[in-house]
Amino acid sequence: MNPAAPAPPDPAAAISVRGLVVAFGDKRVLDGLDLDVRRGEVMGFVGPSGSGKSVLTRTILGLVPRRSGEILVLGRDIARISRPEAAAVERRLGVLFQQGALFSGLTVAQNVEAPMREHLRLSPRLRGELARLKLALAGLPDDAADKYPAELSGGMVKRAALARALALDPEILFLDEPTAGLDPIGAGEFDDLIATLRESLGLTVFMVTHDLDSLFAICDRVAALGSGRVIAVGPPRELAASGDAWLSAYFRGKRGRAAAQARTG
Ligand SMILES: Nc1ncnc2c1ncn2[C@@H]1O[C@H](COP(=O)(O)OP(=O)(O)O)[C@@H](O)[C@H]1O
Ligand SMILES: [Mg+2]
Repeated sequence: MNPAAPAPPDPAAAISVRGLVVAFGDKRVLDGLDLDVRRGEVMGFVGPSGSGKSVLTRTILGLVPRRSGEILVLGRDIARISRPEAAAVERRLGVLFQQGALFSGLTVAQNVEAPMREHLRLSPRLRGELARLKLALAGLPDDAADKYPAELSGGMVKRAALARALALDPEILFLDEPTAGLDPIGAGEFDDLIATLRESLGLTVFMVTHDLDSLFAICDRVAALGSGRVIAVGPPRELAASGDAWLSAYFRGKRGRAAAQARTG
């Protein structure tokens, strides 16, 4: 038996990745990455800017091609099944990208209805009611539904984008820096919302974040990316205590800044 042989991907996991290589030209962004996200957990992803967090997210979603490796999402490898089968898996995933882009020419409710239009056969009336339900779930007031994105605050746009990500009742929610651009209170409220949704909907959450407060507030585990791989994974407190140079600088630096801010006001 070869002790170095990697374990095969785990079909029971929400997401299981083995030996993932993604490159642009000569540049390997992900280089033999392994990862397991358990069903029902909130997993946070951290790493220096440019370490491949967004590329990993997009590759798992099938939006970026891989050079090699295996990726099981809800037990299926999107690259190795038929297009209709892959679409069936994709329907079970909700996504909120870094630039939470809503369609600017559609109202908030129409934005939330867009995935329903594409995937569900519902009467316009039922679709409208469902969209309002999702908006309420995302913490938006009733009168937001008929507004256009430009009429909303940054925090409300994020909530609307979240409502759209929840439109098809996903099992896994992907968030790429969801609180970027929000003030600390807005970011904290968004975190609370994610925690509540995870509890009430039984979601698995895959969350890229720079926000240390988010990591401690809602992540069960955190994975740190470096050199194209997951260099450490564990509960936030364990990672904060890690001896790795980048990790300890990351956690100490942010903690230090937060402490200094608290002292000065
Ligand atoms: N479509 C692309 N073409 C070429 N290079 C890319 C592309 N997408 C991402 N990259 C590069 O891959 C690296 C990782 O990017 P990214 O995943 O966005 O980093 P981050 O961890 O900050 O999210 C960066 O060096 C970026 O320039
Ligand atoms: Mg990114």
